[in-house]
This record gives sequence, C-alpha cells and structure tokens, in this order.
Amino acid sequence: MAMAVASSLSVLLLLCLAAATSAFPQLSPQFYAKSCPRALATIKSAVTAAVRSEPRMGASLLRLHFHDCFVQGCDASVLLSDTATFTGEQGAAPNNNSIRGMNVIDNIKAQVEAVCKQTVSCADILAVAARDSVVALGGPSWTVPLGRRDSTTASLSLANSDLPAPSFDVANLTANFAAKGLSVTDMVALSGGHTIGQSQCRFFRSRLYNETNIDAAFAASLKANCPRPTGSGDSSLAPLDTKTPNGFDNAYYNNLMSQKGLLHSDQVLINDGRTAGLVRTYSSASAQFNRDFAVAMVRMGNISPLTGAQGQIRLSCSRVN
Ligand code: HEM
Ligand SMILES: *[C@@H]1O[C@H](CO)[C@@H](O)[C@H](O)[C@H]1NC(C)=O
Ligand SMILES: *[C@@H]1O[C@H](CO)[C@@H](O)[C@H](O)[C@H]1NC(C)=O
Ligand SMILES: *[C@@H]1O[C@H](CO)[C@@H](O)[C@H](O)[C@H]1NC(C)=O
Repeated sequence: MAMAVASSLSVLLLLCLAAATSAFPQLSPQFYAKSCPRALATIKSAVTAAVRSEPRMGASLLRLHFHDCFVQGCDASVLLSDTATFTGEQGAAPNNNSIRGMNVIDNIKAQVEAVCKQTVSCADILAVAARDSVVALGGPSWTVPLGRRDSTTASLSLANSDLPAPSFDVANLTANFAAKGLSVTDMVALSGGHTIGQSQCRFFRSRLYNETNIDAAFAASLKANCPRPTGSGDSSLAPLDTKTPNGFDNAYYNNLMSQKGLLHSDQVLINDGRTAGLVRTYSSASAQFNRDFAVAMVRMGNISPLTGAQGQIRLSCSRVN
C-alpha cells in the first residue's frame, strides 16, 4: 500500500515535470533543426550583406538585441512600432532617434518567412543577428539557444526604467545588470559591445566639458563636432572606439586605460575596484574578452524568454498579428 502510494506519487511527480517541461521548454540551439533548417543560414547571409554595405549596421543590430532583452525579456518587444492605438518602446528616452536596424530585421524576417511560414520568431532573429553581426565585424562566435516567442505587448515605462543610461556610475550599472540576473563580469564584458558603433554628441557632451579623466587631445578632437551648448550638434556622431570603429576587438578596453572612453558609463569602469581588474585583463587578453563576451551574450539572450505557447510568432516584426 505504502509502495503503491509512493510509486503513484512519483508517477504524478514525473507527469508534473513533463508538463512543466512542455509548457516552459528551455531554449535550445536545435529548436529549428526540423521546423526550419534554413533559418540560420538565411539570417546569416542577410546580416553579412547588410554589414558589408554598412559596417555600422552590425553595431546597430547588436544593440537592438540588448535593448530587447533588458525590457520585459528577449521577446522582440522593442520592434513593435507605435500606431494610433499602440504605444511601444521606440519613443523611450534610450531608444528615441537612437536605435537603428529595425528595417533590416523586417527584411530578414520577410526572407525567413519565405522559407518557413510563421515558424521563426522575431526575438530569435534578433539574437542570431546580434551574433552574426559580431562575427561579420571580426569578433567571436557562439551557439545561440533558440525557441523564444514574440510578445504581444511592449512597455514604454520599462524601456525608460530598465535600460542603463550613459550617466551611470559603476554602482548604478552593477545594480541595473544585477536586476537582469547579470554579474559584474557580464556587465564589463558586455560593455565591450562599445568596441563597435557610434554615439551621438548628446550622450557624451557632459563628459567632454565636465570631466577631467579624459585624454586632452581626444577631448579636443571631439569638441569640434560636439559644441558645448545643448541643442547644437546634439546628433553628430563619434565612434565609440576611435581606434578600430568597425572592428570587434578589445581596443575598447585599451581606450579606457588611456582615458579615451567616449561615454561616462564606459570610462567609470576603470575607477572602481570591482571592474578595473577586468578592464585591465580584457585590454591585454583579447581571447579572454572574446570568451567572456560570448558567455555573457548567451546569458543576456536567456533573460525571461517567452516559450512554449506563450506569446506568438509574429508575421511581421513591427506589429502584433
Ligand atoms: C553598460 C551600459 C550601457 C550604456 C549606458 C549604453 C549606452 C549607449 C549609448 C548612449 C549609445 C549611443 C546611442 C546613440 O548615440 O544613439 C550606445 C551605443 C551602442 N551600444 Fe550601448 N550602452 C550600454 C551597454 C551596451 C551593451 C550591453 C551592448 C551590447 C552588448 C551595447 C551595444 C552598443 C552598440 C553596438 C552601440 C552602437 C550602436 C550604433 O552605432 O548604432 N551597449 N550605447
Ligand atoms: C522623439 O524625438 C522626436 C524628434 O526629436 C520628438 O519630436 C519626440 O517628442 C520624441 N519622442 C518622445 C516620446 O520623447
Ligand atoms: C546611482 O547610484 C547612486 C548611489 O550610488 C544613487 O544615489 C543614484 O540615484 C543612482 N542614479 C541612478 C540614475 O540610478
Ligand atoms: C556639466 O555638468 C552639469 C552638472 O551635472 C550639467 O548641468 C551641465 O549641463 C554639464 N555641462 C555640459 C556642457 O554638459
């Protein structure tokens, strides 16, 4: 009797586990192996072409995945455009007139739809496009877990509250990443994403004119296109990594060592004992940076995905079905 109860309890437990597994499956690199075997190659060739025609697009696509994952998880919420009846995340302070590449994602989605109808999520396309962008610019590769589904919602207020600001100090950055389950090492490694791409003057002006931990010649050269008065030249661009703006390498950390970080939130990483050691390590050991960046990208890509029957597979990434 006791045995029968025990064994039916364990059967029940197994059934519960099986149900939990199917309702909330883990992401898996093989997710589309049967349902859309051409998905990954289709995304890769489209990303490679986009980056060849405009190298900065690789940076923009990497950032889009980051801005997706930090706001209600990696669910492609960032891609939903505003309409008369829907307010998404694109007007939020960190995104407005800043995020780019949504049209490239729309184009990739159309190509993927042509090979597999309503099978591959926009959230997965963002994760794979981020990886392929880094590879196209000479950085490390990694295996991307897949099976995310797309949200039917977006949150302007979470986009304003959960994305880090360039005015942040190490304590703010650490807390912001910890709130997403990411460590200080993840944070310092992921900040290395600023080894590619560009920033507008309005995000680094205060550093140019107020801060002393900035190389004098570097500051002088930036001031020419980023004048002091707010409003003038706000959107003029400078590379986040002056040395190799279109190369995914560890030069970002070398810049920090010589006070040539562009954003306040970059340069502060050498002011704090918790992060300075990692900056020094990555500046001299590019292989370790590459490894830690890849690990951190997978961890970032795992933030609160929708899986199983949650959400939907959008037909068009910019709007819900
Ligand atoms: C640590 C906190 C971070 C802050 C405060 C921050 C802030 C910024 C800002 C202000 C810009 C310039 C945007 C513009 O001028 O329109 C930027 C650009 C960029 N960020 Fe971050 N970011 C952070 C972390 C990350 C992470 C984790 C990644 C990816 C792993 C990333 C990737 C990029 C890229 C690639 C660009 C250039 C985009 C382009 O050229 O289109 N950032 N970031
Ligand atoms: C976004 O920027 C545009 C143009 O600069 C501005 O008109 C608009 O008010 C901004 N949107 C939000 C939500 O701040
Ligand atoms: C940054 O952290 C400081 C304390 O270290 C805190 O007073 C401040 O409010 C934080 N700023 C932001 C924007 O979170
Ligand atoms: C310098 O910092 C002050 C105080 O944070 C700020 O009000 C001012 O706008 C900054 N100057 C520039 C040129 O950004």
